[in-house]
Amino acid sequence: MPVLESSHPLIKHKMTLLRDKNTEPKKFRELIREISILLAYEATADLGLKEVEVTTPLAPAKGYQLTEKIGLVPILRAGLGMVEGIWEMMPSAEVWHIGLYRDHKTLEPVEYYSKLPVHPTVQVCLILDPMLATGGSAVATVDILKKWGAKRIKFVGVIAAPEGVKRLAQAHPDVDIHIAAIDDHLTGEPEKPGDPPAGYIVPGLGDAGDRQFGTG
Ligand code: PRP
Ligand code: URA
Repeated sequence: MPVLESSHPLIKHKMTLLRDKNTEPKKFRELIREISILLAYEATADLGLKEVEVTTPLAPAKGYQLTEKIGLVPILRAGLGMVEGIWEMMPSAEVWHIGLYRDHKTLEPVEYYSKLPVHPTVQVCLILDPMLATGGSAVATVDILKKWGAKRIKFVGVIAAPEGVKRLAQAHPDVDIHIAAIDDHLTGEPEKPGDPPAGYIVPGLGDAGDRQFGTG
């Protein structure tokens, strides 16, 4: 069960700007996009290749071609902001959306949208969601993809709580977790007015969906 927390200096620098409560939605979206590209670079380091020949203006040369088709699977809403940048790096990837929201009381995921073809059309699925909090949404998404028949699945996220990493790793030990930062803990039930709701990552970055889309 590899859990790969990035140690890349560019990611660490950008994460600091992303966490800042004064970062506006436009800049926040740019940072999510940039961090996602860097994480996807790390998450795709083991993709299969076959040798091919290419002819340069000077001579034939040995080249390589990817052998696996990639599916990008953003969890709505917050995962949407991770798609575009990664898609530019791998334009022949397919994009499959999974709609889940967390029930405010139970914190368990509720599925409201998923549209996958009858049989898998890709060999590697990258689940995209900036936040791995309790892990419920990630586990539910892997469940959906495995029922669909997906064989190789990786989770690519921005911030995780230790609780979420543990839950996903226990439920699906075959799924690699690529994450920019593993934070300290999750908030518990609020004790006084003004306390954040339960199930938020501390220190985290707040609500990733609201901060991207300017809601909340
Ligand atoms: C957030 C986030 C994850 C989920 C993580 O989505 O984007 O999908 O919470 O929490 P979990 O690990 O405890 O399941 P949210 O339900 O707030 O929906 P949104 O993206 O539409 O705002
Ligand atoms: N979802 C978010 O957007 N932020 C958290 O801290 C936890 C879940």
